[in-house]
Amino acid sequence: MSDSAPLVLVSNRGPVSFEPDGGMRRGGGGLVTALTGLASYRDVTWVASAMTEEDAAAARLHDGRAFPVKLPDADREYLVRLVESDPLAYDRFYNIVANPMLWFIQHYLWDLSNAPDIRKGEVEAFELGYKQVNADLANAVIEEIDGVKDPVVMVHDYHLYTLPKVIREARPDVLLHHFIHIPWTQSDAWRVLPAGIREQLYTGILSNDIIGVHTQDYRRNFLQCCRDLMGLEVDFDEGRVLTTDGRVVWVRAYPLPIDADTTRAVARRERTLAFDEDLKRRRREHLILRVDRADLSKNVLRGFAAFDTFLDQHPEFLEKVSFIAQLMPSRSDIPEYREYLERIEALVAVVNQRHGTPDWMPIQLKLRDDLDEAVAAYRHYDVLLVNAMFDGMNLVAKEGPLVNERNGVSILSENTGAHEELGEFALSVNPFDIQELADAIFTALTMEPAERARRHEGLLKIVTARDPGDWIDEQLDDIARRRADYRD
Ligand code: G6P
Repeated sequence: MSDSAPLVLVSNRGPVSFEPDGGMRRGGGGLVTALTGLASYRDVTWVASAMTEEDAAAARLHDGRAFPVKLPDADREYLVRLVESDPLAYDRFYNIVANPMLWFIQHYLWDLSNAPDIRKGEVEAFELGYKQVNADLANAVIEEIDGVKDPVVMVHDYHLYTLPKVIREARPDVLLHHFIHIPWTQSDAWRVLPAGIREQLYTGILSNDIIGVHTQDYRRNFLQCCRDLMGLEVDFDEGRVLTTDGRVVWVRAYPLPIDADTTRAVARRERTLAFDEDLKRRRREHLILRVDRADLSKNVLRGFAAFDTFLDQHPEFLEKVSFIAQLMPSRSDIPEYREYLERIEALVAVVNQRHGTPDWMPIQLKLRDDLDEAVAAYRHYDVLLVNAMFDGMNLVAKEGPLVNERNGVSILSENTGAHEELGEFALSVNPFDIQELADAIFTALTMEPAERARRHEGLLKIVTARDPGDWIDEQLDDIARRRADYRD
């Protein structure tokens, strides 16, 4: 691929969302963080869904074409094309198929004796919703690459498994690279889906030339799924799948790094610094912190249950420790998410009621999306709690140690992608073992300073070793190798 070849990115959530007053807000979540990095290194056109009425209005204002966007703290602008889909189709796509169905399959979240029930509504949601939104985005991409020689399209995440096939059929010469930001689960998790849907999803994603995931585990799972569910020939050493139409698909692991400069710049912002005073005033001797989207996969309830157990078993810590939980409400149109938030609030009330005193509230729950406030808290924690049941990577586990100034200890679930890199210097926990987690809190809070420093340095070294530029280069190198491979 020549450097001048245009790069088209496509994802469901775009880099910006529009507000009722016409203002712009940065999109949230790991995917947007990663791709914003990419867009600051290369000229890109970013195709994404218009997720709200305001996004749709912005799309219409530009006649559905790409328009330049520059966020206040970004150093370059890029082209964004927001694609409007039929609202019913979009609701079925986002709120039934992508979330919860695929998200739950890819985080082992279904409680299978109870859910999901697959009925006509779910099948229609796939046929008329998921596939339609994928086709809408695919058609916008096809227009963007019209007349372009050797186009490269980078597709992102679980929302877009049927899109690559639509593009491939229109443009057999395209090079398609698809990165999945969430875990790839083992084959039985996928058996929840009717075979017809499963086959369309796998045929769709196997229309790519290269498939990227965060870890070696997910790579292995993907290959095994292709063998178990599709009966395809796979090469585990080389990371290759041979499709029924005779194509070879590469499967690669590219662990996503954080952008240290950007995160440090947020830590220096005036607004971030202003949160310091409040944190200092309210903190006790020890501070435990968690920062997450309010998602079932993050295992928030067991985190509080473990803190409750810890306070029962170590009353010497009463009034000496506070636990800040900053949770960003997410996907609130989905009943499972609304109910989860209610259960979180109820459990916090119980723990605070059981252990709190008139001037000490053990858990401070902050239900809001405020990056500055979260980064301010990173600076001050003694313990960072990342106990997700399953998590594609988890960038909090990387951002926290980068900014922290107290040699804080990381408690890290062994089922996060980040654990493959950071496990050696964290306190690893099984996210389902509440007693182990309570013990880990005690170990972390009583750890010798020298040991805290040793672990902190270890984490810091790893999280600063690579940056998003490296992550992108690894993928672009593979794209170039793949192109060369085809030419030979
Ligand atoms: C995770 C996923 C992303 C997604 C983000 C926010 O980070 O990997 O694909 O963008 O969550 O989810 P949302 O549903 O708000 O786009």
